Amino acid sequence: MANSDRADTAIAFVYRGTFVHSTQQTALQILKDALLGVDAQGKIAFIREGKELEKLSQTFGFKTSDITQLAQHEFFMPGLVDTHIHASQYSYAGTALDMPLLQWLNAYTFPVESCFKDLEFARKVYTQIVRRTLRNGTTTACYFATIHTEASLLLGQIARPFKDTQVTLRRLFIIYDFGQRALVGKVCMDRNDCVKHYKETLQDSQDETCRFIKELLEKKYPLVKPVVTPRFAPSCTGALLEQLGEIAKNNNLHIQSHISETHEEVKLVKELFPESESYTDVYRKHNLLTDKTVMAHGCHLSDEELALFRETGASLSHCPNSNFSLCSGVLNVRNVLKHKVKLGLGTDVAGGYSASMLDAVRRALDASKVLTIQDPKYKTLSFEEVFRIATLGGSQALSLDDQTGNFEVGKDFDALRINVAAEGGPIDLIQDEEPKILLEKFLNLGDDRNIVEVFVAGRRVVPITE
Ligand code: GUN
Ligand code: FE
Repeated sequence: MANSDRADTAIAFVYRGTFVHSTQQTALQILKDALLGVDAQGKIAFIREGKELEKLSQTFGFKTSDITQLAQHEFFMPGLVDTHIHASQYSYAGTALDMPLLQWLNAYTFPVESCFKDLEFARKVYTQIVRRTLRNGTTTACYFATIHTEASLLLGQIARPFKDTQVTLRRLFIIYDFGQRALVGKVCMDRNDCVKHYKETLQDSQDETCRFIKELLEKKYPLVKPVVTPRFAPSCTGALLEQLGEIAKNNNLHIQSHISETHEEVKLVKELFPESESYTDVYRKHNLLTDKTVMAHGCHLSDEELALFRETGASLSHCPNSNFSLCSGVLNVRNVLKHKVKLGLGTDVAGGYSASMLDAVRRALDASKVLTIQDPKYKTLSFEEVFRIATLGGSQALSLDDQTGNFEVGKDFDALRINVAAEGGPIDLIQDEEPKILLEKFLNLGDDRNIVEVFVAGRRVVPITE
């Protein structure tokens, strides 16, 4: 167990029981009868063996009666990290999965996203998606919004952790702010030949991106950051990509986009950017591949392109539900890991039909099995490996692993309290099981009924109180 305790701050609460998490060395570390203390700043102050209770309570000054004991079929795991999700597409999640990507964008996505000019509509959708993802254990989400600055700012506000009273033109209403850790991106696109009204001019895209970043940073939400978001190369001119690369560099910001999701898209990028050696080279040329970049999909990247990811420190978001649903491709995760490219999991709502990261875990295992069916020598991913990608891997992919991703002392306490035998839940436990089996059952069979508490930066955000 980690033993560099932080004895300098007051302890807010302590849990005792089973903790499971990943480290750089082990995909699954199980700590039985552990004591975890969270300080007043929401950071993990200590994680030690239960037998050290007396000494810990003296060092940190808490009463043993303040400890919450987990039941036998309960455990804590790190919060799930969704490295790629379109908050603006949630209204049609679970539908519209009958076309390949480029047709799908024109037929469904752009018409819906253009509605986010309407702030009331935006508030409704964004409130629902933040609530739904939190209840399903997503403590960190990397969101795409739309091209609309005001609605994108609203998404940042809904994710952040305070209740606020807002006066609108005609009435007073409360926006319930949920306390999720989030990267929020105003989408940039100055090229869209299919839905003419859903695009910006180069100048507007640049100006509004700067305004979005400035206004979001001024709000000083501790857990919400702006992310520079060119939609993908086909919807941006080279001039816009260039500007966005500059903006990200000048403000030291995160960057997100899509890459190599389908063969048709890769072909289109070749036609639109003939001077570039590859799709990855388009982003690299415009300074959009950095160690704070996360690119969704990458199903059809070459080894040379993966090497460029590795070199620049850019990461990939694996979105298997979307890749199956839009028949885009199957990411070879082993090959990504072999190239030492940082990798997280994403739901990619609504190309992916489920907003739950548990679904992403299952689809990632399925995708890996498809590769094994095609080639029996392909080593299928284990559930422990996918667990790591969904938690620590995601935090690394978003360059947030200094703050979250596992239960290291000094990190924020982003955690899910899981009750595998929750009453009325989807899992029947026939007998007592070891923690490893409890985790495997939860990942494969569990749902939000098993997630009895969710913490972000030490603050309990589920059950949601309104
Ligand atoms: N590529 C560009 N935009 C999108 C999008 O909204 N969803 C997916 N899956 N791929 C994209
Ligand atoms: Fe996407």
